[in-house]
Amino acid sequence: MIIEIVADKEEKMISQETIQQITNRIDIIEIVGEFVKLKKRGANYLGNCPFHNEKTPSFTVSPSKEIFKCFGCGKSGNAIGFLMEHEKYSYVEALKFLAARYNIELEETEVSPEIKQQQQVAESLFIINSFAQKHFTHNLFETEEGRSAALTYLKHRGFREDIIRKFELGYNLEERGDLHRTIISNQFNIEYAEKAGLIVQRNQSYYDNYRGRIIFPVHNQTGKIIGFGARLIKSNDRAPKYINTPENEIYSKSKILYGTYFARQAINKNDECLLVEGYTDVVSLHQAGIENVVASGGTSLTIDQLRLIRKLTNNLTIIYDGDNAGVKAALRGLDMALEEGLNVKLVLIPGNEDPDSYVNKVGATAFEDFVGSNKKDFIIFQLEVMLQEAGNETVKRSAVVNHIAETLSKINKAEDFTKQQDYIRQCSGILKIDEAGLTNLVNKFKREKVAKEEKKQPFVDFEKQDWPQDQNLQDDSSFLLLNDVIHERNLLRVLLEYGMLRWDNEITIAEHIFGEIQEFNFDDSEVDRLFTVYKDSYYRGEQPSSKTLLYYEDDKIRNLVIGLNVQQHELSPNWDVKMEGLNINNRDTSRHDVIMSLNYFKLRKIKKMFEENQRDIEKATSFEQQMDLIKVHKVLKEEEQKITGQLGTVIIK
Ligand code: GTP
Ligand code: MN
Repeated sequence: MIIEIVADKEEKMISQETIQQITNRIDIIEIVGEFVKLKKRGANYLGNCPFHNEKTPSFTVSPSKEIFKCFGCGKSGNAIGFLMEHEKYSYVEALKFLAARYNIELEETEVSPEIKQQQQVAESLFIINSFAQKHFTHNLFETEEGRSAALTYLKHRGFREDIIRKFELGYNLEERGDLHRTIISNQFNIEYAEKAGLIVQRNQSYYDNYRGRIIFPVHNQTGKIIGFGARLIKSNDRAPKYINTPENEIYSKSKILYGTYFARQAINKNDECLLVEGYTDVVSLHQAGIENVVASGGTSLTIDQLRLIRKLTNNLTIIYDGDNAGVKAALRGLDMALEEGLNVKLVLIPGNEDPDSYVNKVGATAFEDFVGSNKKDFIIFQLEVMLQEAGNETVKRSAVVNHIAETLSKINKAEDFTKQQDYIRQCSGILKIDEAGLTNLVNKFKREKVAKEEKKQPFVDFEKQDWPQDQNLQDDSSFLLLNDVIHERNLLRVLLEYGMLRWDNEITIAEHIFGEIQEFNFDDSEVDRLFTVYKDSYYRGEQPSSKTLLYYEDDKIRNLVIGLNVQQHELSPNWDVKMEGLNINNRDTSRHDVIMSLNYFKLRKIKKMFEENQRDIEKATSFEQQMDLIKVHKVLKEEEQKITGQLGTVIIK
């Protein structure tokens, strides 16, 4: 929630009118053209993709759809998305950039009282943290105790003063109330000091939480201090080595990677992010000139942390101690990383060293050489570890095969398709099993995942390989087997594209679709939200379309709209063929597109109802119950026949 509150605050600052003014002015060719050399090709423009290395241009910009799409790496978006990706702007920063460019005055709007309240708390926490950090730094450098206990210790460990100052390290004196007293005498609210985790209350009196500890401030993306990690100087069995800021309005452990603020540029430049465990690893590597490094704090990676990395680069290199616990923790994040489309490599530091001690021991150059030449592919590494554990036991080895197939099935983005095939080849080699067999198994897991629909898929998943590539017209069943989300999205695409056109003299296509799908639900929550947004907008008389929703304030909805826009025909090579097949008299294609999309959507839903009903029949405890369910079965069958009759193919077996 944390970072969102701050972001919310920013987003709320620019009024909808201003955003409207900006988006009206956007010329995507002009914006993108500033960074990429574009050539006109038919209706579109073509250039070399700025997001990946390529010799033949596959980066396409469509002025009519107001989007860009790279057919090499799969990146796509609108003009704002381009600026966010290319310039690493936030949404608000991109809007501000455009406003300045088009000379549009930024109009600010009021925020709600609740948000105002949260902002105020957040603001107070930032202020008190910043104050505390200065006090801690003062303690470290300017007090006798700080210098003799803490600074000596840090220098003894090899940290240079410039790096200590860069990371704003500090020290909390041993005495129990030094910070507390300073906070009071500077008239800070004690409640905020507690919320910030600087002060704790015990037996009706206040204590400094971090007394006797070295302080590592944790910075957010803009360099403001959101919390602290505090390390004991002398190891002590009764107290934890590190304590951290408790969760509060600005600090949420699961969303933070220590060092991101200092690493951003280097990650961008190297197109790689190094991930280590500890605070000291980050600081030491920086000191050695290796700056593209962040720390997880020793726990397994969360999805939010992976997304944070994903915004900066696709290449993640995990550098951990050789000890088991850390590696196991790292392995736990693997499947999520794959789903995020990250290329994950692993480097294990030898001996009892961690990156901090190792770089201090061997020096920067040797460290970089070691990392460079010891990168293990994460999936292959996992496979080798599991195989080693399984030994020669057949049952265990087949469990390994299953496990790796499941892992590989998580690589599901279009641009990663060849990567998946590559892995299948490598892994079947290591496992000494048939490649086709492993492919089948991976596909089985993919299907199961689709069937379970345990996880909704972000729009980027909805790409080429999801569509049957070489499917012919007869084989409609495979199209139908595609996951529900595809049919749901396809219907939304049609709605956005043709919704405002007439269905007949009475109603629009949008109203026709609203009526037709009344009794069905969308399983995908984002599709469902977009549908609601569309419907609300429609009934407000706003004439919604992909154009009006392309700059919608919520980025999930925005991305979905972009995805649907991109997908239009391009991603479904056979769709056009089918359309042509049906488009006998060259009649209005929108009608056919609507009918087909609705039919496929409904068939898919009905198929699911069939399955559910079948299960219920099997479970039925009485004859009456069974008869009722069989009636349902018949109704469904009729409904299905009506639709397949229209499509002219028998689809459901
Ligand atoms: P040094 O021992 O000073 O080199 O620190 P380190 O960062 O190498 O510590 P270590 O490898 O033991 O732990 C890695 C990271 O895990 C630390 O930087 C902390 O973020 C976290 N960590 C370690 N011990 C604790 C603990 O006792 N409590 C909490 N909350 N986190 C810890
Ligand atoms: Mn260490």
